[in-house]
Amino acid sequence: MAPRCFVIGDPIAHSRSPMIHRSWLRQYGLAGSYDAVHVLPADLPTFMAQLREGAFAGGNVTLPHKEAVIPFVDDISEAGRAIGAVNTLWREGGRLHADNTDIAGFLGHLDASAPGWQERTGTALVLGAGGAAKGICYGLLGRCVERIILVNRSLGRAEELAASLGKAIEVREWSRASETVAEAELIVNSTALGMSGQPPLEIDLSRLRPGTVVDDIVYVPLKTALLAEAERRGGIAVDGLGMLLHQAVPGFARWFGIVPQVTAQLRATIEADILRS
Ligand SMILES: NC(=O)c1ccc[n+]([C@@H]2O[C@H](COP(=O)([O-])OP(=O)(O)OC[C@H]3O[C@@H](n4cnc5c(N)ncnc54)[C@H](OP(=O)(O)O)[C@@H]3O)[C@@H](O)[C@H]2O)c1
Repeated sequence: MAPRCFVIGDPIAHSRSPMIHRSWLRQYGLAGSYDAVHVLPADLPTFMAQLREGAFAGGNVTLPHKEAVIPFVDDISEAGRAIGAVNTLWREGGRLHADNTDIAGFLGHLDASAPGWQERTGTALVLGAGGAAKGICYGLLGRCVERIILVNRSLGRAEELAASLGKAIEVREWSRASETVAEAELIVNSTALGMSGQPPLEIDLSRLRPGTVVDDIVYVPLKTALLAEAERRGGIAVDGLGMLLHQAVPGFARWFGIVPQVTAQLRATIEADILRS
């Protein structure tokens, strides 16, 4: 039977995952489906039982279920366990597996957009301490970044994140973000600030060193004010849409058996949809 896949969330109508996976299904001429399914928190146990019984080959999980699905799976990847949140599920050998591919998505896009970033990065400045920031810090430490300076509005949340991932993370007050800019070879915005409908991200980039990589994981708008200013000052801008596209690769490979390419055409399709919205 052709694999049936899903993305579950509440809400879910905004998700661009169906567009990404259907585009690959068409491109590779594969039989199968990928649908958005609106699952309320109270309905999650029933949905996960259906998945276990074989209604689907697997799928993606978005807010608010990224942590809540964990008790329903049999095996969780090391990254998923470390972060305490997963976004990709699949059935294999009668067992339910889970992984967090946001990390691979973040790193995959950074590798593609700023080749050599890893060799040049001793210190990274990460803004934000939510679920995305935790994955990013985990991924950066896995790539041997020596020092992460973590800045978040709620200091306690940043301290918790640092305590869970280790000594290489130094926490600073939110008000010190601008003065920290000069210390970093890589700056990542993983807050919701700068996203359409959210307040702007107020950070002074006047001390940005040319060649610093500035990665904004917000992808609506496509080019955030942070990225535009970073480019103006000689930084290398890395946008959030690429992370979204790259995080979809491992799931598609599991369910449909082909490692898909993140092409300029796929990017243009999703960009057009974002510009329409
Ligand atoms: N490109 C991609 O593929 C991708 C993947 C995942 C997430 N994202 C984006 O990343 C962003 C964060 O996602 P998340 O899952 O980590 O969300 P989250 O767990 O809710 O964390 C939100 C973060 O934003 C900060 N924040 C929110 N409003 C703020 C404000 N007014 N002032 C200062 N800080 C504020 C929060 O600080 P406090 O801790 O102080 O509340 C926290 O650090 C979202 O915009 C999401 O769309 C993109």
